[in-house]
Amino acid sequence: MTESLGTPVLAASSSRCAEWWREAVIYQVYPRSFADANGDGMGDLPGIRSRLPYLRDLGVDAVWLSPFYASPQADAGYDVSDYRAVDPMFGTLDDALALIEDAHAHGLRIIFDIVPNHCSDQHEWFQRALREGPGSRMRERFHFRDGKGADGEEPPNNWESVFGGPAWTRTKNPDGTAGQWYLHLFAPEQPDFNWDHPAVRDEFSSVLRFWLDHGVDGFRIDVAHGLVKAAGLPDAGSIEHTRLLEAHFSPSFDQDGVHEIYRAWHHLLNEYDGQRIGVAEAWAPTQQRTANYVRPDELHQAFNFHYLATDWNGDALRHVIDDTLTAMRAVHAPATWVLSNHDVTRHATRFANPPGLGTQIRTAGDRDLGLRRARAATLLMLALPGSAYIYQGEELGLPDVTDLPDEARQDPAYSRAAGQDGFRDGCRVPIPWTVSGSSYGFGAGGSWLPQPNSWAELSVEAQYGQSDSTLEMYRSALGLRRDHPALESADNLRWCDSPPGILVFERSSDEGPAFTCTVNLTGAPVTFIPPGRLLLTSTQVQVTVGQAVLPPDATAWWTTD
Ligand code: GLC
Repeated sequence: MTESLGTPVLAASSSRCAEWWREAVIYQVYPRSFADANGDGMGDLPGIRSRLPYLRDLGVDAVWLSPFYASPQADAGYDVSDYRAVDPMFGTLDDALALIEDAHAHGLRIIFDIVPNHCSDQHEWFQRALREGPGSRMRERFHFRDGKGADGEEPPNNWESVFGGPAWTRTKNPDGTAGQWYLHLFAPEQPDFNWDHPAVRDEFSSVLRFWLDHGVDGFRIDVAHGLVKAAGLPDAGSIEHTRLLEAHFSPSFDQDGVHEIYRAWHHLLNEYDGQRIGVAEAWAPTQQRTANYVRPDELHQAFNFHYLATDWNGDALRHVIDDTLTAMRAVHAPATWVLSNHDVTRHATRFANPPGLGTQIRTAGDRDLGLRRARAATLLMLALPGSAYIYQGEELGLPDVTDLPDEARQDPAYSRAAGQDGFRDGCRVPIPWTVSGSSYGFGAGGSWLPQPNSWAELSVEAQYGQSDSTLEMYRSALGLRRDHPALESADNLRWCDSPPGILVFERSSDEGPAFTCTVNLTGAPVTFIPPGRLLLTSTQVQVTVGQAVLPPDATAWWTTD
């Protein structure tokens, strides 16, 4: 039976704005794995520069770079030893400045990653703190504590590191005897800063200014929810799920005191012209807690990890979309949407596996199903109001590489969790640019993680200009997103009545045609009256006069002329 998709049932306000970040599509570059200009097997800044035309042609508005600062690479650069220096493996400061300039020349904004929760254990301050010993002023900039027990042999509290094992490591005194413990919410090579200390606050203001003065358009703030810990560092009630999406309270994350820092950063960013922004990586337990980071006097965006963690399920998706829009509307912040990043199994692989496995998956699952759903999920995401994040390679439909040899893996969580977790290397494999050649065009000297042979056909070269390719679907979607007047408003989504498992929403505009998005999550084809002219689909859709058939796991975009 052919069904009408009904009328909109959820009203929302509609507004146009001139703030670029409210609707921006932001592309995440993982510098190790994007493009390698010097042929050492590791991506670098000149490589990224050389590929900026690709990003411009893809149609994104901004690029976010994961860290490329001086670092011993204990956590792939999220262990920074000098926040103002470029690690030689990625290039030079001049390369970074040229990258900013080139990005701007291509009409792209550029956002850097700032890592304020912790530094590297090789950072000058931490090295001094170790040398200068208990009671020294330098130790106050970190969380050093005496241990519990008769000889201080037990850690100061029961916190677990996100990467597994205790969140405390015991130091040795200069004379070789066992000394104090220091806190690290991540690897032992990543000591946490004490943000109660004014020197820490001043130093990060100075680091932000350093890069802002050099022209960056903003910062992605690593572990934004971690900087302030509960006073007195009390024991956690139970072993915490430190990433918090399900926990309701943790003494180590999402403390109210953290917001004072972002209010200060808001003022700092406002001192600069050009709408510089701060984006919170904050894994908060609810959307309402996430929204706290983007109150009008705080940061501009926060990643929507609740959306990222949602299975391919109609009810769950509709719920998380509504929850997001409601929470963000309350603080006048844009919703953000993200499906993949450098910390989670790529969505083409997540959706290839049964639901409920979380975001660290080591099984390839059904690749065809995963790609079909990933494409449908992408068109759903890019049709939603607000800002969207794309992780390098998802526009090629790349799956995770689930069968990396264990000895190739570098994720510190993998070894700390004894191979039971920490499969993040699978989404960090260098991306294929060409159908042949060394490392498929990534560079002239191989790649730091092995690429599967099957990636030739997923390369940019293989997909460019092929109308049914995933790359061309992304390019079309981003072009339409930019051009369709109904997709320009930040908050104009209205759900339409639809049978279970089918999502239908409309976005309208005073200035032109309305836009409708239809998503089929029923597992079977659905037939309905087309809500307009077909614009774009994630898979073949049959449209005849008065009837459309949407296959399972498919999304279609329509316009009412
Ligand atoms: C963030 C980063 C992740 C890193 C961790 C510690 O979650 O995205 O890659 O390991 O912080 O800095």
